[in-house]
Amino acid sequence: MKEITEEEKSKQREYQEQCRILLKTQFPDRQPMCYLHSYGCQGNVADGERMKGILQEIGYSFCDTPEAADFVLFNTCAVRENAEDRVFGNLGILIHQKKKNPRLLIGLCGCMTQQSQVAQRVREHFPGVNLVFGTHALHRIPELMYHLLSGQKRVYQTEKYDGFIAEDLPVVRSSKFQASVPIMYGCNNFCTYCIVPYVRGRERSRRPEKILEEINDLLQNGCKEILLLGQNVNSYGKDLEQSVSFAELLRIINDLPGDFRIRFMTSHPKDITDELLDVMAQCDKVCKHLHLPVQSGSDRILKAMNRHYTAQDYIALVDRAKRKMPQLSLTSDIIVGFPGENYQDFQKTVELIRYVQYTSLFTFIYSKREGTKAAKIIDPVPLSQKTKWLQELIGIQNDISEAIHRRYLGTVQRILVDGVSRVNPDLLTGRTDTHLVVDFPGNEQLIGKFVDVRITKAYRLALAGERIIQE
Ligand code: 5AD
Ligand code: SF4
Repeated sequence: MKEITEEEKSKQREYQEQCRILLKTQFPDRQPMCYLHSYGCQGNVADGERMKGILQEIGYSFCDTPEAADFVLFNTCAVRENAEDRVFGNLGILIHQKKKNPRLLIGLCGCMTQQSQVAQRVREHFPGVNLVFGTHALHRIPELMYHLLSGQKRVYQTEKYDGFIAEDLPVVRSSKFQASVPIMYGCNNFCTYCIVPYVRGRERSRRPEKILEEINDLLQNGCKEILLLGQNVNSYGKDLEQSVSFAELLRIINDLPGDFRIRFMTSHPKDITDELLDVMAQCDKVCKHLHLPVQSGSDRILKAMNRHYTAQDYIALVDRAKRKMPQLSLTSDIIVGFPGENYQDFQKTVELIRYVQYTSLFTFIYSKREGTKAAKIIDPVPLSQKTKWLQELIGIQNDISEAIHRRYLGTVQRILVDGVSRVNPDLLTGRTDTHLVVDFPGNEQLIGKFVDVRITKAYRLALAGERIIQE
């Protein structure tokens, strides 16, 4: 693992200064506005927060709509085709807007643009796009912006610059009390359906000192929930000179003083150790929630996906975890309609989800990703059929979720209040340690605080209750 050198960092700082000067001359009487939108996973959102940090340093402020912006940057996701379609749709609208405001700068970055065929498509068919860079060029934003602001019509930077970690980047966070902290980047697993290893490169871990520095700073500023992020957090630390396991890292963070929660995602079932389950069970700040994507319940399909476990291995792991943490809540990702999957395979997935009793599921129809191994497998089942299987799965899971939610009735749950309820703006909302949504009446001053709520109602997607006020 290599970090970006001090020399490179100081070069970028110089570009940053140049950008500030250019922006001041181009916007002499107001601040230039940037609209940055991150699509996709939490890792991408975390990258977006760092991009905002850099853009703020060079002089941009941020707005909530592309219409109000001088610079629009889409931080894209490539994991499924519909995410890419959304970006191209929004890009079309934006290019129309550019006809009215030719000074508008448009940028595309992230996982989509790291794929050469997408970068090529943008280059040929979207001349209105001024800036394109991939996931490996984030720290070079000052340099790229410098070229753009000094008049270059199109700036492209999508070469593979893999194997590096950029530390000490500024961050503009969307919340003061909940923060994502990437602990590693990239993925080595090459699940056959997944584009991530191709666009995000090989696994590389941040040094624990750097992670702790960031977390300490967050805690000192009142943060109440730290979400540790990585494509496969359970292989954290394997590439470090002084090897540290993910379980050890969790224990160190748990020992930091203060009243806060620790969450993490994502865990690959093949890499979960008993050490990790024990640490989770013993550490009071570590939430009793495990996002453990199973993808399929059929051994044949799991093998074709290159997942390195069987349904039985997975179930044994879940049983061990629940023995150690009876209150544990599990969530998962499922892909329906992997090439060659038949109805019997699908039924094995249904059997597995009935056994495991997930509190909720993220379900996806398989999406062919060019360049992956699965893209070469014959895929005879029509989309209409896959959609029916998906609906069947969602129906079954809804019943399971509701039954799990009902078990919370009458209990008192500690909630971190994260905002106003999405279904009823008169209510506040927050999450239990087990990651369930709870709505309750309360004053907005409670946002960002822990409160105790007695659960009085259980729905399919959420719980509701009344706050218990301690004297
Ligand atoms: N098609 C459908 N779903 C996918 N995922 C990853 N790649 C694909 C694909 N090609 C899902 C997996 C993964 C989640 C983040 O996205 O379930 O766990
Ligand atoms: Fe994709 Fe598999 Fe890596 Fe997750 S573990 S990012 S699904 S290759």
